Amino acid sequence: MKESQGKTVYLRDYREPDYLIDETELDVRLFEDHTLVRARLRLRRNPEGQGAGAPLVLDGRHLELLELKLDGALLPPERYEVSAEQLLIAQVPEIFTLESLVRIHPENNTTLDGLYKSRVMFCTQCEAEGFRKITYYLDRPDVLSSFTTRVEADKARYPVLLSNGNPIARGELPDGRHFVTWQDPFRKPCYLFALVAGDLQAVRDSFITQSGRVIELYLYVETKDLDKCEFAMGSLKRAMRWDEEVYGREYDLDIFMIVAVDDFNMGAMENKGLNIFNSSCVLANPATTTDFSFQRIESIVAHEYFHNWSGNRVTCRDWFQLSLKEGFTVFRDAEFSADMGSRAVNRIEDVGFLRTVQFAEDAGPMAHSVRPESYMEISNFYTVTIYEKGSEVVRMMANLLGPQKFRAATDLYFARFDGQAVTTEDFVRCMEEISGMDLTQFRRWYTQAGTPRLTVKREYDAKNREYLLTVSQETPATPRQPHKEPFFIPLTVALLDAKGKELPLQLGGNDTVSSSKVLQVTEATQTFRFTNIPEQPVPSLLRGFSAPVKLSCDFSREELMFLMSHDGDGFVRWEAGQQLALQVFDDGLAAWREGKEYAIDQRLVQAYRDVLRASLEQPDIDKAMIANLILLPSEAYIAEQMTVVEVEGIHRVRESLRRQLAQALLGELSAVYQANLNDAPYEYAAEPVAKRALKNTALNYLMTLQSPEWFAAARRQFEQANNMTDESAALRAFINNPCAANAALRDELVERFYQKWKHETLVVEQWLSMQSAAPVADNLPRIQALIRHEAFDLRNPNKVRSVIGAFCNSNAVGFHAADGSGYAFLGDYVIELNQLNPQIASRQLTPLTRWRRYDAARQALMKAQLQRIMAQPELSADVYEVLSKSLQE
Ligand code: TRP
Ligand code: ZN
Repeated sequence: MKESQGKTVYLRDYREPDYLIDETELDVRLFEDHTLVRARLRLRRNPEGQGAGAPLVLDGRHLELLELKLDGALLPPERYEVSAEQLLIAQVPEIFTLESLVRIHPENNTTLDGLYKSRVMFCTQCEAEGFRKITYYLDRPDVLSSFTTRVEADKARYPVLLSNGNPIARGELPDGRHFVTWQDPFRKPCYLFALVAGDLQAVRDSFITQSGRVIELYLYVETKDLDKCEFAMGSLKRAMRWDEEVYGREYDLDIFMIVAVDDFNMGAMENKGLNIFNSSCVLANPATTTDFSFQRIESIVAHEYFHNWSGNRVTCRDWFQLSLKEGFTVFRDAEFSADMGSRAVNRIEDVGFLRTVQFAEDAGPMAHSVRPESYMEISNFYTVTIYEKGSEVVRMMANLLGPQKFRAATDLYFARFDGQAVTTEDFVRCMEEISGMDLTQFRRWYTQAGTPRLTVKREYDAKNREYLLTVSQETPATPRQPHKEPFFIPLTVALLDAKGKELPLQLGGNDTVSSSKVLQVTEATQTFRFTNIPEQPVPSLLRGFSAPVKLSCDFSREELMFLMSHDGDGFVRWEAGQQLALQVFDDGLAAWREGKEYAIDQRLVQAYRDVLRASLEQPDIDKAMIANLILLPSEAYIAEQMTVVEVEGIHRVRESLRRQLAQALLGELSAVYQANLNDAPYEYAAEPVAKRALKNTALNYLMTLQSPEWFAAARRQFEQANNMTDESAALRAFINNPCAANAALRDELVERFYQKWKHETLVVEQWLSMQSAAPVADNLPRIQALIRHEAFDLRNPNKVRSVIGAFCNSNAVGFHAADGSGYAFLGDYVIELNQLNPQIASRQLTPLTRWRRYDAARQALMKAQLQRIMAQPELSADVYEVLSKSLQE
């Protein structure tokens, strides 16, 4: 271990910078075997800093310093100190110009952080701390500067040269080289800097803002991808319009550019005026892209665009405030998606993700609050807690304020802090100022980690016509936070009468009557008294998932069936179905443990039958909702409910329930499959997307019957599909089917699919991930064969995620094989990736960090892999942090 690996940064140590950078002029000369970066910085002492005498300390990682000038004069070596991480100049004037020239090697940069090459093009990724790999700088988000960037390269190989802002000069140079100079009129922190050079084609469009300005829009791609640009361009224009209508936010520069790159660590990056996207998050057409990806692309394009205000115009003071931009922007993109499609289904899908992935993080060794107190490597904190839980925290405030006041509060926030680097506290204070509410206790959502568990007890007093709900909350300890104070939890409830109608509600007799109420749960235990309740109701709890909590209430299966078919709230209907299925699953698991056969509870069968029939009988019912209502809880969600995860039990019992449901509902499922076939030309629109989702859900059930009839139907769908959603769903139905009778056919179709699509990278990634994610035991040899496949490349993060990530996160019976082979497999690749790409290595490590949740034998095997990685000679800070926290007692 090196010393830098153990260094922890604390929020409480935050200090203003000692120097500020008013202007940044960069000259970047790209060559095949090196790049030269000249930086001219206009610096001045920060009046809020330590004062006169403070040394100038610039960040700079593994740079080769060739020249250093202060106010035009060469600095002799005794005037400064250079280390692997910093450049220190002990004495500098109040105001001065510093000019440095460094040599870097993007052509060898496999970390995809800083300036690097993605196949044939140069590009950058500077968030969070990549800029220091390009030049010496104050690489922190509270130093805002104007940027002028000259990019120079070979003209034939790199005809397109881009950076932030507007092009102000361009020209030809000797030796076939050329340059373009860009100027960004908006001051920004260096994490929003971007540069791209490549042989790119632009798809162009334009947008007229609400004030009548014309914005030129560009989507830059390689020639091979020109047929996949239309959808993202449309998404961008919808997002631009939505942000004007819903938040009053207009775009500020005259041009907005998106570039697609194949090698990218995350989804996309909101660089000012020049967003850079993982090609899988922007390129789409019906032949190669599934409905799921279309939806994801639309929301990511919107997310990055929305950052122009929530992140760029108003940015973060320090990286502890990351959720200020990410939580808020996820909330914004979720609302955008809800407005573009089905609000209820969007909410269900987001909650499903949060409750499996974020709740698991909150219960594991990397648990942290939405505003963390400390970190070792900031890249490890781009987490579901910062993003998705952060969004839930903003959502709770939006709901507490109501739409008008929330809009007034965000208007105030953008106006007050435009051009500044601020904190989550500044955001909350705007909410308080506009609403007059006291959010003191609410702020614990930012400071306390862990998922609160709510228990609701109910009691009906017929004589006094009163209904009592007693709510208790408890939050388990998390690392470094043994004791938790009660949260402020907005709990939205309604009470349903025997017909499913919402009863008028009045709390304690002196409050206004309404059909649903937001209970303000603030104490460890609290009782809410509803008056004038004429009959014993069924409570509809946590409507819309009004807070990110685990809720338990002793509902009977009949009550859950009732809620599933009657509740007016889409989330509660779905959640009732999930709880009913979990209860039935528990019976099945108890029988499995004793080696007994389990016959499925007919109430679950009936509940699904009712839902399927409704979809057949009511033509305008939301079929995407139906598809979600008949999905059993995922293996991951079931695992989340257990203290000790029973890997085989979960898989076997869930599969048995799926088969029994298919047998009992054969008639309904076949009818639903037939009724939702569609041979019209493909369209990405709510109705056909919903029909495909429902049809393919039905097909997955029917395939469990292992009958020639349904194998034939799936094969027909595979061969005749006119879109990737149906084609891949049919292939997946075979791949997920462990039946030996289907093996030869499966292998044939898998190969045919590859031969058909091997020239489309994004389809090949889908092909890899379908096979790797298949929940099939003893699958590791197949996964290892994929790693040796010509299509695999350990240096490309999408490929790593498609094979290693998909297997370790989605195939629990494979990854958790009792002999530890899955763990050793992951260990091997984390060790290799640690050298190539630390950010990716540390993310892939996540499933091993959950070792405490498994039985003793698996715990030992998982820990052994963590220790084996820990013993490697050169661990990155990224991997070291995750390992050390996971192994801590
Ligand atoms: N800020 C980006 C977003 O959420 C994501 C991001 C952060 C990122 N760090 C990154 C992307 C590193 C790629 C690599 O929109
Ligand atoms: Zn973001």
